[in-house]
Amino acid sequence: MRILVTGGVGFIGSRLVDDLVAGGHDVVSLDSVAPHVHAVDPDYRNPEATYRVGDVRDVDAWRAALPGVDAVAHQAARVGLGVSPADVVGYVEDNDLGLAAGLFALHEAGFAGRFVLASSMVVYGEGAYRCAEHGSVRPGPRTEVDLRAGRFEPPCPRCGAALAPDLVDEDAPIDPRNTYAATKLHQEHLAAVFGRETGVAVAALRYHNVYGPRMPRDTPYAGVAAIFRSALERGEAPQVFEDGGQRRDFVHVADVAAANVACLTAPDPVTGPFNVASGTPHTVGDLAAALAHAVDGPTPVVSGAFRLGDVRHVTASSERARRVLGLRPTVSFEAGVAEFATAPLRAAP
Ligand code: UD1
Repeated sequence: MRILVTGGVGFIGSRLVDDLVAGGHDVVSLDSVAPHVHAVDPDYRNPEATYRVGDVRDVDAWRAALPGVDAVAHQAARVGLGVSPADVVGYVEDNDLGLAAGLFALHEAGFAGRFVLASSMVVYGEGAYRCAEHGSVRPGPRTEVDLRAGRFEPPCPRCGAALAPDLVDEDAPIDPRNTYAATKLHQEHLAAVFGRETGVAVAALRYHNVYGPRMPRDTPYAGVAAIFRSALERGEAPQVFEDGGQRRDFVHVADVAAANVACLTAPDPVTGPFNVASGTPHTVGDLAAALAHAVDGPTPVVSGAFRLGDVRHVTASSERARRVLGLRPTVSFEAGVAEFATAPLRAAP
């Protein structure tokens, strides 16, 4: 197949380009290699792929990349959390307008292949919880008063009792809580509407906390794995927020690329949302300890600091990806973290 990967120079996109090339596909990357993302032009480009430098907001960039393309994996996006309300225009332009430009160009080209959207677990907001009395519940945002008092676990919204974290499946209610999350959800909706209107098979992959080689180094927008890793590289202890007991699903980039390959190449077209996760939750404290241990670095500091917008736990059921796509995680937390502890990270500005 001829496959277009947008963001093919990025952390996840570049891994996907490599895996598709290894699978015998003809791969075109569309990536702006923007200076606010890449400090230097990365040296890991795949010699067998075609790289186009262009911005996904530009319909002409899509037009130039599309001829002959059978499938598209749209990975290009402004990622991380919006750190300031001032970021809103940039997120909407890159994520919403960027996708809209692509859908327009696909429509114009009479595209009838497959479209895979990189989405995120952030569309769920808080994860799923169970109350002994009220069963499955969805707590609202945590208050600053509770967080300051060290009450990190959200209580049952009906009776205030303690809750047990549960796994979110794709039918869980959606509750985007930051600008990035809102644009990811809007992208899912725009792409799904396009799929319904054109018959294009649209799948949305809700990535959980992705880590692995080529992850960008520590920036205000970086995920926690890169932040901890960068601290250890400087010889500093990772700073673990809250009490370190917040749970996430850390999924290796190889398994994220595999989920994309499965959607792009499955014998039957694949549609709808899929959690992309390892299926094995870990705490943020576990991650810090495992990374520090792997490099014999300083013991992590559990600081009790918090970010108001953070959710406490969000961990996924990978059942749908397993059933429909036949996906099984190939990289365990132990093996993945040990590799990540010394893997090359990407220079960020
Ligand atoms: C992250 C991404 C989000 C992405 C999602 C799924 C960022 C900022 N967030 O969300 O964009 O969609 O994964 O892939 O990229 N923490 C510390 N110490 C630190 C920094 C963070 O303990 O120095 C804690 C946070 O309080 C939080 C957890 O680590 O509890 C995870 O944080 P982070 O990786 O930033 O964001 P997520 O909300 O999981």
